This record gives sequence, structure tokens and C-alpha cells, in this order.
Amino acid sequence: MAPKHQAPRGTRDLLPADTTLWSWAEQAARGVLARYGFGELRTPIFEDYELFARTAGESSDVVQKEMYRFTDLGERALALRPEFTAGVMRAYLEHGLGGRARVHRLWSTGPVFRYGRPQKGRYRQFHQLNCELVGSPAPGADVEMITLFVDLYEAWGFRDLTVLVNSVGQPASRRIYGDRLREWLAPVHDRLSADSQARLVTNPLRVLDTKDEGDHALFRELGAMPRLLDVLDAADRQHWDAVVAGLDAAGVKYEIDHGLVRGLDYYTRTAFEVHDRSLGAQSALGGGGRYDGLVEMLGGAPTPGVGFAIGLDRALLVLEERGVKADEPDVVCLVSMDATRAAATALARELRREFVVECDVEARGFGAQMKAAGKSGARFLVLMGEEEWKRGEVALKDSKTGTQETLAREALAAAIRAKKGEAK
Ligand code: HAM
Repeated sequence: MAPKHQAPRGTRDLLPADTTLWSWAEQAARGVLARYGFGELRTPIFEDYELFARTAGESSDVVQKEMYRFTDLGERALALRPEFTAGVMRAYLEHGLGGRARVHRLWSTGPVFRYGRPQKGRYRQFHQLNCELVGSPAPGADVEMITLFVDLYEAWGFRDLTVLVNSVGQPASRRIYGDRLREWLAPVHDRLSADSQARLVTNPLRVLDTKDEGDHALFRELGAMPRLLDVLDAADRQHWDAVVAGLDAAGVKYEIDHGLVRGLDYYTRTAFEVHDRSLGAQSALGGGGRYDGLVEMLGGAPTPGVGFAIGLDRALLVLEERGVKADEPDVVCLVSMDATRAAATALARELRREFVVECDVEARGFGAQMKAAGKSGARFLVLMGEEEWKRGEVALKDSKTGTQETLAREALAAAIRAKKGEAK
């Protein structure tokens, strides 16, 4: 019989077999983030609806079709976070972080929610690893963030990633670019999708983000698309040149993608993404950029910032498909007899300060315990025979080397440690 309840569409359970890899990836990321001097920030999973609506952009898919909005019992208009950046900047202002230090490096992780059509790599509840460098307008900050972005993937075993970069300029250059796009698209205007025609009026850049195949065919028909980089003003251009030079100096591989516009409206100047074609349509593994106007949108003093989010579900999907496995710990399994059962509980507790230990809790016989140990793949078996135990000894079997030795109970931990090759 099918169970009465199933996880809501677009959400999934991560079972212990899955979370081992997730925990490993998170641990590896924590190490990289600590070495880059980032501090962890935890913000609420829901915020005022207005916070997201104002920052993501009225014409973005996130606001128009994807937000999980709700009204709570106190009639407050709230939304589950569709991304981290708005909440991070809200917290930055609320706690006056700007007054405490000039530059802040903040990272966060957890579930985010977007109401989309679920498919491979696309969920309604997914997970991001989000990083923001707040307070510096310098191109060096963009370079450091793109370097961190790549180093996080590399810590998970990704190699030779190519980051796609572009500059979306400041609002003034974007307006000029919008006019160029309208002129370029004028001959095919009536054949564009209804969505793109509407976007051409409200936010022309967003047309480049269209998922409609017909639109893309029209773009190809028209040929050379106007480039944002060609309409940047002198200051934006200088910033862009410095970012590209910085990436070269840092040895980061990148490609300039003139069609890269990002799905949220708060970006200024640098925008970047990384893709993996093995994911099919949902190929973006992560993305980000600079957002110098965002804090002002929230009523704060002008504060530059640059950041990115990595889609953890997608990154882990790729790793799983490549057969990447988290390191399995060497397990120690205690095998006791009736007479040593009680002692096994105490010994297990002691060894668990240091090792992963399995110990029977069902008063099973010696044979059943041995069978269970074989099945679980434990490397070390500690055989607690009655006579040996009385003499203060146990037998240690190492199934990796196939050796067995009898040793003093007190020498057990040191012997396991030595065999694992971990001098303590
Ligand atoms: P975003 O490009 O909207 O950026 O999302 C970042 C990543 O989240 C995507 O590249 C993708 O891997 C993952 N993602 C997005 N939607 C889904 C989904 N439905 N299912 C699974 N994964 C998904 C942001 O969210 C910005 N806040 C990044 C940022 C931080 N910009 C500046 N600071």
C-alpha cells in the first residue's frame, strides 16, 4: 500500500546514504571559507515578502512566479527565502555591521525555496552555499570572490572549471544597452514569445535570459547581438579591465559570455556563473556578481558588495554521478559473549571518544555478531572472549591485513590508532 503522505512535489528527503557526501562537502567548504577569513551568518528561513520583492526585481521570475508567499496568523506578509543575499543585507543593516568594520566576509548555508517546475537539478526546496564580501567597491574584491568560488568547487574535486564572466554595468549603461537590444530585436519583435515582448518593455536585459527555444532561434537569425561591454562608461570599463587582469594574475580560467545576465535584478558591473553540461537544461552550478545598489534599495547608506551562491543539490548531483564518495571511517566492532556483554558496553563508550564503534545491543550470540560485523564492513574486530577478558586481554583482528593478535586491554586504543596510521 502506498504511504498516505509523500514529500511535497519538488522537495526530497536526503537519507543517511546521501547525507554522508553532503556532510563531507560542507566540511571541505568550511575549511576553505575559514582560510579565506569568512564568518558564518545564519538568517531566518522566512522574511518579509517585501524584502525579496524589492531587491530581486519586479520583472524577475523569482518575484513573478517563484516566491513561496504566505500570510501568518498575525496577518504579516512573509515569504520563504528564495535566495540569501537580501536576508544577509537586511541583517547587515539591522545589526549595524557597517559601523563595526569596513569590510565583512559572510557565508551562509541552508535551504532556499522557489516555486518552479521540478526536474533534474531543479527543486522547489534546494540548498545554497552563499558568500558575500560587503563593503569594498574594488575590483580586487570581485577577483577574490571569483577565486573563492572556484576554490570551493576544487575542494570538492571539480577540475578545470571555466567561469563565465560579463559586466552588466550600472543602471545608466544598462538603459543604453536596453535601447540597443530593442533596436536589434525590432525586426523580429512580433515573433518573440509573449514573455519576451513584455520584458522588452519592462526590463530588456531579461529577454536574454529567456528559456523559449523560438526566441533563441530568432537571436541566431539576427546574428551578432549587441554587447553590454561595448556600452560601458569609462568607470565601469576600468573596473571590468581590472577584474579580468586580476583573474589572469590569479590563474583563474574564465570565458567572457556576452549573453550572461543573471536572473536577479540587483546586479551591477561584474556577473559570473559556472556551468556543467552534464546537468542538461539546469546546467548552472552557481553564480553571483556585484550588487552595489542593493543596500540603498533597503534604505541603507550606499554600500558596495559582491557575492555568489553555489547550488549544492546540483554540485552534489554531479559528484554522485562521477562516483565521488566521502572517506569512510575505519569502524571498530566489539564482539562479546554473555559473560563480557556488560563490559562491552563500557568499552564501547570509552572507544567512542575516538573511533567509530559498533556494539551489539540485542544480546545476540557470538555467531550473529560476527555475521553482522562482516556485513557492516567493519575493519577492526575486538573479540572479547571470557577467558581473555579475565586475564585483562582482548583479541584484535584487522580484516584489512588479515592479522589477529592478543593484547592487553589497555593497549587496545593505541594498537588501533597505530594500525590506522594515525600517531596521536
Ligand atoms: P542564483 O543564480 O539565482 O543566484 O542561484 C544560485 C544557484 O542556485 C544556481 O546557479 C543553481 O545552482 C542553484 N539553484 C537555483 N534555483 C534552483 C532550483 N530550483 N533547484 C536547484 N538549484 C537551484 C542567487 O541566488 C544569488 N543570491 C547569488 C548571489 C549571492 N549573488 C550575490 N550574492
